[in-house]
Amino acid sequence: MAYQSIEVRKSTPAIGAEISGVDLAQPLGNQAFQEIHDALMENLVIFFRGQELSHEQHKAFGRRFGELHIHPSSLSVVPEHREVLIIKADEKSTYVAGEEWHTDVSCDAEPPMGSILYMKELPPDGGGNTLFANMYRAFETLSPPLQKLCEGLTAIHDGAQVYGGRFGQAPPAGGFPRSEHPVVRTHPVTGRKALYVNRNFTTRIVGLRKPESDALLEMLYRHSETPEFQCRFVWQPNSIAFWDNRAAMHHAMWDYFPHKRLGYRVTVKGDKPFHRA
Ligand code: SIN
Repeated sequence: MAYQSIEVRKSTPAIGAEISGVDLAQPLGNQAFQEIHDALMENLVIFFRGQELSHEQHKAFGRRFGELHIHPSSLSVVPEHREVLIIKADEKSTYVAGEEWHTDVSCDAEPPMGSILYMKELPPDGGGNTLFANMYRAFETLSPPLQKLCEGLTAIHDGAQVYGGRFGQAPPAGGFPRSEHPVVRTHPVTGRKALYVNRNFTTRIVGLRKPESDALLEMLYRHSETPEFQCRFVWQPNSIAFWDNRAAMHHAMWDYFPHKRLGYRVTVKGDKPFHRA
């Protein structure tokens, strides 16, 4: 794809690209917006370096891509900016957000289309990278009979498994979100098919017996975590990663305990996952 207002350098053949030539603190012109959107569709996750953003500017950048999402459980948010999640780990942490392969909040009926993480502080000895995996590739590299099987299936994604389980949170009024989504979703912009199950939220394939569901899910997780489908982002302070939750999953590496890592995430609302044969 030819870009005129930004530069785009791929991270790996499968996924990821670093974008330069744009200051995200400034309102985006239409061409820059369109090219950033194109780069996201083409590369599934895009990275920016050396950005200086206030919470307002971070939200304004997110809003160019859609309405902002409010997290359904009580993760910590910036006071007076409830659309800005605090992504923090330090010596007191017993878990970190995103330390298992997942797509964000896939337990929602309409899970977020994208997430924009702005990193401010990093551990002193490195670590705290984020890994991303291409879920189009994960689907496309299954054998045709398995593709056919998966295209006919739906699965349950349950917030209780993560927020109530690993995070130990009390359920909000009305309970944690729980939704049924196609195992293979069609991307609403590109029309491509992506595998849409993840270890964090997916609990059960509908219509299969539990041992069948467990075995198939484990096989799909292992397959989608294939290293050739991945890139790994090495953060610096003031880096941004913007990922498309409809086509990529990610994993935050917590290899720096007891050191501190701090970032802020703005999340853009998405639509109901669907499958088009
Ligand atoms: C997340 O899943 O939003 C956290 C990702 C990270 O901390 O790298």
